[in-house]
Amino acid sequence: MCSIIGYYGDGSAAPILVKGLKRMEYRGYDSVGVATKSNGKIEVRKGVGKVAEVNDAENLDKLPGSIGIGHTRWATHGKVTAINAHPHPSNSGKIAIVHNGVIENFNELKEELLKDGFTFVSETDSEIIANLLQKNYNETSDVKKSIINTVTKLKGHYAFVAMFENGQLAAARFHEPLIIGIGKDDYFLSSDVLGFIEKTDDAIYIDNGNMILLDNTGLEICDFQGTPVKQQITKVSKEFADAYKGDYAHFTLKEISEQPGTILNAGKKTEAAIEQTSDFIKHAKAVYITGSGTSYNAALVAKYLMSKYAKVKIEPIISSELPSLPESIEENSILIAISQSGESADVLEAVSIAKKANAKILSIANHKNSALVHESSLYLGMNCGPEVGVAATKSFTSQLAILYKITDKLCDGCLDLSFEEVSTSISKILENHSKIQGIAKELKEVSDIYILGRGIHYPIATEAALKMKELTYIHAEGIPGGELKHGPLALMDSNVYVIIINPNDSTYTDTLTSASEIKARGAKIIGISDKNSDVYDHWIEIPTIKESMYPMIEIIPIQLLSYYSAIEKDTDPDYPRNLAKSVTVK
Ligand code: F6R
Repeated sequence: MCSIIGYYGDGSAAPILVKGLKRMEYRGYDSVGVATKSNGKIEVRKGVGKVAEVNDAENLDKLPGSIGIGHTRWATHGKVTAINAHPHPSNSGKIAIVHNGVIENFNELKEELLKDGFTFVSETDSEIIANLLQKNYNETSDVKKSIINTVTKLKGHYAFVAMFENGQLAAARFHEPLIIGIGKDDYFLSSDVLGFIEKTDDAIYIDNGNMILLDNTGLEICDFQGTPVKQQITKVSKEFADAYKGDYAHFTLKEISEQPGTILNAGKKTEAAIEQTSDFIKHAKAVYITGSGTSYNAALVAKYLMSKYAKVKIEPIISSELPSLPESIEENSILIAISQSGESADVLEAVSIAKKANAKILSIANHKNSALVHESSLYLGMNCGPEVGVAATKSFTSQLAILYKITDKLCDGCLDLSFEEVSTSISKILENHSKIQGIAKELKEVSDIYILGRGIHYPIATEAALKMKELTYIHAEGIPGGELKHGPLALMDSNVYVIIINPNDSTYTDTLTSASEIKARGAKIIGISDKNSDVYDHWIEIPTIKESMYPMIEIIPIQLLSYYSAIEKDTDPDYPRNLAKSVTVK
């Protein structure tokens, strides 16, 4: 949710930190701050807004010093204010910290620290860490011991970096990501490789329950008892160096446009794992599939796909609902967990519940070093490169591509997959963007959009509605075609727009009938189909393709429509308000 970063070296820390924070801004973007140490003093600058805005106002990148820490925030405890922004200094000002995660026992720890005479200026749970470290450092005068004594007290999940006035940098990881970038003469600590990828592609992915110490003797990694541990340096995949907008106005548009290529990469080099997955599914007592947001919509598509083509029953469960349904996971079953980031707290909790029932975990993720992959017996890589735009776009079609591959294995090739054909069809839709841009102008003033799809097109309708909500802030709802007459028809009038997902397949006629019923109530109809009809006020044409493959292409025009509507409404499509990518809190 938040991003944290630290720099230890002989370069100028502040500009490096600010650049890294800009690249990790997708993790949280309501406020930002940087602290550096120079001339034996720690100086903190922070403010509310995006990195570029706060940097312009506060000159974050002009802070002197070759050691520093930085943070972008997605508020959990405390409002969005400059005081609540990180870094948080300890009372003495001799330690400053940045934190990602939630300290669950912060009230209890705060009480204890207040009794010890510490005071607090922010409403955050994070400020506890700064003062607890200060207390422990006062008692031990030893950075390592003070980290050990601090993490022993903390409950919750966190990654933090602490800068000490004596010039040491220390960090700890517990169920939140933390990676070390190893430079030539310097070190980077970061929530994501994007924080340092421009400087180095040598990285150490810190294991859970480990801490890092950096001083003029070099780097030490220990467990929470202080015992040194050895961790391997790995090369960061080159594709992660690619997180630039290039000539595109926004990451979101770039990522939508990358899909003719990314769907060809999905699941590549994981053919053996796909075969194994299909074997596991065939022999499992029960199969569940889980995810949040867009990843859950992909899971829903899988239910229809596997049921229709492979005659396999799988049960989709929204990850955040699984804790309320613990009995639903049968012993020795399989849970397929889908997550772009591999870090969503809800997905990780669902996995941990399933593990308690001895379920085997198979994951579909984009980040192979993520917590989810770590928890899985088998991993299928989406391989779609970094997705920076907060709204998931290319990751959705990559997830679908993998689910199609699994289904095809299960039905011995019955899908006769040709992703090249899908890729060409997506390219054609992307070329048609000017028509979609025209429709977006009309949606500017609309306050309700309904999206209708029947059968396998229903999960595409829910995904489409999610894109509309996130990018345009227009109320949008996905409706299963057949449900219209059971209630939603009451909402239809001339103020409403309805998007009809209606490829020319076995659902076509029924869906067109629903469209006519809506039209008769005065609503405007946008038809997404390879076949035109006079029921549509606007027709967005999609190419004709093999029946089973329509879901992979019909989402593209709605991604574009959501994006261009956001532009018309002058909202920032890359960073929708109140949201963040990688939702690592419950
Ligand atoms: C939607 C979106 C979110 C994510 C959800 C799960 O556009 O971005 O709904 O899909 O937070 O994220 P991952 O897939 O990283 O677990």
